[in-house]
Amino acid sequence: MRLKIINVVGARPNFMKIAPLLAAYRDHPSIEPVLVHTGQHYDEAMSRLFFGQLGLPEPDINLGVGSGSHAAQTAAILTAFEPVLLEHRPDLVLVVGDVNSTIACGLAAVKLGFRLAHVEAGLRSGDRSMPEEINRVLTDAISDYLFCTERAAVENLLAEGIARERIFLVGNVMIDTLLSNRQRAEQSPILSALGLEDGQYVVATLHRPSNVDSPDDLRPILEALLGIAARRAVVFPIHPRTRRNFAAFGFEDAIRQRPSLKLVEPLGYLDFLKLMAHARAVLTDSGGIQEETTILGVPCLTLRRNTERPITVTQGTNRLVEPTRDAILSALGDVETRSPGVPAMPALWDGKAAGRICEILLCA
Ligand code: UD1
Repeated sequence: MRLKIINVVGARPNFMKIAPLLAAYRDHPSIEPVLVHTGQHYDEAMSRLFFGQLGLPEPDINLGVGSGSHAAQTAAILTAFEPVLLEHRPDLVLVVGDVNSTIACGLAAVKLGFRLAHVEAGLRSGDRSMPEEINRVLTDAISDYLFCTERAAVENLLAEGIARERIFLVGNVMIDTLLSNRQRAEQSPILSALGLEDGQYVVATLHRPSNVDSPDDLRPILEALLGIAARRAVVFPIHPRTRRNFAAFGFEDAIRQRPSLKLVEPLGYLDFLKLMAHARAVLTDSGGIQEETTILGVPCLTLRRNTERPITVTQGTNRLVEPTRDAILSALGDVETRSPGVPAMPALWDGKAAGRICEILLCA
């Protein structure tokens, strides 16, 4: 019996999550995958680069929706995805993560009666002002198969009344990708290209609206980064949203005057993995980086008041830090006085999550 699965990607963090699934499908000839890219991210550095590095095939279909307000972007994806579903009539639609493409494609699918699988289900920050939290709650509410990365996610879903037989603790597909690329990433020349010394620099990434969309939120974080850069190199691969806001808020001069704060274009997967693996610490507001640093054993300071990934704090190297100048400087000071972190491996973060998902889908 054939199992035709439409797999959806849209934004940068989706690519690392879908890659191991597409690879695992190849072991099962009865699975017929179709890859749909919504086009939510479209820059070379935010999208195409990852396809090459992760060995992803060209998408079978690109919806080309691009940027827009949440409503406009979500609506454009819903409208563009519906005819794809009607043409391909899949046995299942699989969505990953928590971006607008995730909920939009999930909603289009279930409205037409197609079964839906959500990979990375059940994560909850408890903060409904985060667009991703809304996407997570809604996608989980309409999914038939909910694949979880950690035990807390299973508990969250049960507490929301989701039937136990729909929930599967399978591990973390993003970590599948990390483990299979770890050695290859070591070949990246990024440290010498940026003039960095192993273990001596800090990596920063920032793109959450709550940190970067207002000058009052972004200024204290920038002040902290400038303070850190006064004594060690800080590498900051910058998201297009954040770059635009630095310019709009008039912060570019201050950055230019501190060349040890190195703003670089968004990096490819292998360069970024190497950069994280050899950093003294990572400062971020990303979701996935909290998990990746846990596996790498690199201290992670998450500039948020909550996390949907509690295992990275309880078992890993992650610590939540108020996004204020003093809190960031003090947390980094703490990290610097301690010996470097130790890699942790939460249960089932073993590089085999995609294989488990395949087996479950084939029995479904
Ligand atoms: C999206 C996800 C977020 C994820 C992040 C990873 C949602 C709600 N948010 O946020 O969860 O962590 O991706 O990067 O889905 N832009 C470009 N080129 C691109 C893509 C975006 O210039 O290729 C610019 C556009 O001006 C756009 C802005 O970045 O308006 C934001 O892009 P968008 O897709 O709306 O959300 P992200 O902030 O990237």
